[in-house]
Amino acid sequence: MADRAAAGGADSGIRLDPVTRDVKLPPAFRLVVLDEVDSTNDEARRLAEGGAEEGTLVWGLSQRKGRGRHGRDWASPEGNLYLSLLLRPDCPPREAAQLSFVAAMALTGALTLLVAPHSQIDFKWPNDVLLNGGKVAGILLEASTTGADALDWLIVGMGVNVASAPDGATFPATSLRAEGCGEVTPGEVLEGFARHFQVRANIWVEDGFAPIREEVMRYAKGVGEAITVTLGEETIEGIFADIDETGALIVELGDGSLRTVHTGDVFFGGAA
Ligand code: BTN
Repeated sequence: MADRAAAGGADSGIRLDPVTRDVKLPPAFRLVVLDEVDSTNDEARRLAEGGAEEGTLVWGLSQRKGRGRHGRDWASPEGNLYLSLLLRPDCPPREAAQLSFVAAMALTGALTLLVAPHSQIDFKWPNDVLLNGGKVAGILLEASTTGADALDWLIVGMGVNVASAPDGATFPATSLRAEGCGEVTPGEVLEGFARHFQVRANIWVEDGFAPIREEVMRYAKGVGEAITVTLGEETIEGIFADIDETGALIVELGDGSLRTVHTGDVFFGGAA
């Protein structure tokens, strides 16, 4: 059972409701629940800078200013899951970025047990989870470094469309409810995520990225197929050749050369 003490302290304004938010987490996690928050990543950052421990999980029931990758907005009405996990990995930032794959696979594992039979779950590089082809979850990693090669904290922010999905997203979105998962609650997704994350994080610490990468490759959508990748102003087209041993995307270009991509948005097929 989680130690549900609010990491922000007794007078931090954090309120826990044991009835509607009673989730059971492995002891490694400390849960902070907030009715409404600007962004759970901001709250986790505030707690991190105040010395909160690794394993602090900030759960917002809704967000006023949820944000996604590349400065995009992340629509955050009540009914979906908005979660930020504070970690303090003892490794260089580039390696710590692999924790977004660990989180994506943890979520994949959790969803596998919650979705309707015959649902298709895929991983969309670098950190989206798809359900029956639509984006059901996204991950936003934020970190603070203490020196050239050391991390103070890393926050894994995750949004899961449980009850609703936004219209008009860059990549078509869906929700667990829209895909026939009935009355799955944000708390159930959170519990599943935490359990699956703990298992995979231990594997990552003990054995490195290789076993996580293996799982990523099993779920990765579009391997061997045509993709378009947008990298800021640049767009490249090619074949999704691989995800390398660091987590980078390898794209085979028209001339047969391989391009290593560390960040970007992937679209399936030949045109974005
Ligand atoms: C993306 O796909 O662009 C990443 C979306 C990440 C959204 C989550 S919701 C919880 C946390 N707080 C935020 O403001 N963003 C992340």
